[in-house]
Amino acid sequence: MELSDFGKKFTVKSGILELMDDMGKALSSADNICMLGGGNPAIIPEITDLWHRRFEEIVSDRSSFDKIIGEYDPPSGNINFIEKTVNFFRNKYGWNITEKNIAVTNGSQNAFFFLFNILAGKFQGNVIKKILFPLTPEYIGYADQGIENSMFTSQKPVISFLPECLFKYSINFSNLNIGNDIAAVCVSRPTNPTGNVITNDELSKLDEICRNKNIPLIIDNAYGDPFPSILFEECVPIWNENIILSMSLSKIGLPSLRTGFIIANEKIIEAVSSVNAIISLANSKMGQFITAPLIQDGTLYQISREIIRPFYKKKSDAAIEYLTHRLKNKIEFYIHKSEGSIFLWLWFKNLKITTRELYLKLKENGVIIVPGEFFFPGLDDNWKHKHECIRINYSSENTEIGLDIICKTILEI
Ligand SMILES: Cc1ncc(COP(=O)(O)O)c(C=O)c1O
Repeated sequence: MELSDFGKKFTVKSGILELMDDMGKALSSADNICMLGGGNPAIIPEITDLWHRRFEEIVSDRSSFDKIIGEYDPPSGNINFIEKTVNFFRNKYGWNITEKNIAVTNGSQNAFFFLFNILAGKFQGNVIKKILFPLTPEYIGYADQGIENSMFTSQKPVISFLPECLFKYSINFSNLNIGNDIAAVCVSRPTNPTGNVITNDELSKLDEICRNKNIPLIIDNAYGDPFPSILFEECVPIWNENIILSMSLSKIGLPSLRTGFIIANEKIIEAVSSVNAIISLANSKMGQFITAPLIQDGTLYQISREIIRPFYKKKSDAAIEYLTHRLKNKIEFYIHKSEGSIFLWLWFKNLKITTRELYLKLKENGVIIVPGEFFFPGLDDNWKHKHECIRINYSSENTEIGLDIICKTILEI
């Protein structure tokens, strides 16, 4: 059997697929491996109690339960969920949106696949237009999503060193060259893998540039406000007709219910809903059903700020304190300022081995991390920095054991 170009592109073993496979095997072959490599949100008892309660309420109401599991929704999403969500965003932020500005997808990962391929790729006359990531490191999950080859381009950040072994990336606006080959600009904010939150100022500059160029600005808000609010800097979400804001229910603790939604202008919503209809017919309904009343009455907003955010902030602070205490003044070592998300980004400057090699050593020693090189989608430059960083998920139950192994291993190199 010969696969089509699409078939080949989406089945070829990319570096990250191999790595994920390797991580999976390592985990299943040893019980005592510390997994700091994955993207799972933490299990927070107060939050899981809430999901249990909602499931019980839904199951005990026989007629609505039968409808949830027994009926397809329209391709743009569940009407009740969309209505409640529109009202919430209108009231909270004063955005002038209606039911025609929201489309639900089976997880926000799906939304990115749809958006990237709706907006970029091959145009008439064999012209290829690209998605620009103005700041790398950026989310690994964007990397292989283009149906056409070379659909992404990106640029290196400016690095500012901060006290206490911290640093921060910013967008290099002086290099930001948006030509006619750029179809849209995309940022995750807070950023997976670094925990960076591009500043309000950076965001409004990007917004202005994109509006002037008449290309959409996609903001991936998987960790941001109003939920899950894993955000340690004050920043108000923004939206206008040129912004595509992507939201996810995964990091409030529901990743397996595969629910995300975008807020965008009507043309984008119609396009995403059409692709939804063709690819999935309809969306998974349970996540929408569980959360709709909690979005409407503000519970989701409140628990995000009062439970989810402090939970992660405490874990992030503890991991930073631990690492700084163990490594400061011993090696050249920096942590990206933790402004949000569930990850820490560690930079071992001038490390004698690449972080891919470090990954192998750490795996042998019982801890899984992700080497930095995978987080530069669209950046062809073989920048040394790519091979000096790692991403860890700081929120796992055995983070401290994992960090201890990382410190010991690094100090022996
Ligand atoms: C920045 C970012 N965007 C999007 C996603 C996709 O999330 P989901 O498809 O679960 O909504 C993730 C998942 O980890 C992420 O970290």
